[in-house]
Amino acid sequence: MTNPHADKIIDGKGFAEALRGRIGENVTRIKDAHGLTPGLAVVLVGDDPASQVYVRNKGKAAAEAGITATDHRLDDSTSQAELLALVEQLNNDPAVHGILVQLPVPNQIDPNAVIDAIAPGKDVDGFHVINTGRLATGQMTGPDAAMVPCTPLGCRMMLEDRLGDLSGLDAVVLGRSNIVGKPMAALLTQASCTVTIAHSRTKDLADVCRRADILVAAVGRPQMVQGDWIKPGAAVIDVGINRIAAPTEDDPNKMRLVGDVDFESAIEVAGAITPVPGGVGPMTIACLLANTVTAACRQNGIDPPVW
Ligand code: GUN
Repeated sequence: MTNPHADKIIDGKGFAEALRGRIGENVTRIKDAHGLTPGLAVVLVGDDPASQVYVRNKGKAAAEAGITATDHRLDDSTSQAELLALVEQLNNDPAVHGILVQLPVPNQIDPNAVIDAIAPGKDVDGFHVINTGRLATGQMTGPDAAMVPCTPLGCRMMLEDRLGDLSGLDAVVLGRSNIVGKPMAALLTQASCTVTIAHSRTKDLADVCRRADILVAAVGRPQMVQGDWIKPGAAVIDVGINRIAAPTEDDPNKMRLVGDVDFESAIEVAGAITPVPGGVGPMTIACLLANTVTAACRQNGIDPPVW
């Protein structure tokens, strides 16, 4: 049976495939015109299984787009000094335009010290305080523009694709993380939305969410946002990726992925909504590739593509 609300679904997977196609075309063009091949270095410390999957997917997607991806796998017992030495080596390598250190890192390493050590122009995650500051102050063009964190960048692209001009809309960002919530709020502010950052301590959280024309959920609580938290017709972007138990008779240990939004009730009310999986996740990887190409262009005095 086809879903009667199918046209409400924002197809992040399809959108990401199209974006990756455009990235591949631009990589070819830049190679032909400038002899430049964008390079991405991905660093993984330790053997966390989820991180291994993410890192493998990033490397594969980069290679498919024609970006040179180099993997650096370091032992779980790697010291902070050793990791910083690798980052320094990558900072000085002209064939490396983007550096990504997969988080979390083991306890003996301070993640902020590592992020601070990455050259801001090569910080394709957009986590360095220089990039945070450039985003907050709206420095978005030119050789020293902000590198924008991948997940919020992908969310904004999908929102603009679906809604067009976002100016004047009420946006509620549920979650205040440095990786998603705060940069998402900065991007929506730049797009002239009226932005509220809500979180676990917000009073009357459901009422606050119900005011939103755009609701971005990034709290890491499975299915927290219910249909009756959503304003009819609102655009809902679900950043959550949570694994919950979904036992069946055949497999009592079966798990399934859900977002921070209760999709079944939310799609009845929302005007547009991203599914989990197949929504925000694929766009994050595509935006990492876009950021790598942007970084390569800026480092070589080439105008970056407009994604
Ligand atoms: N761990 C989970 N998400 C991310 C991400 O976007 N970038 C990095 N570097 N590590 C992560």
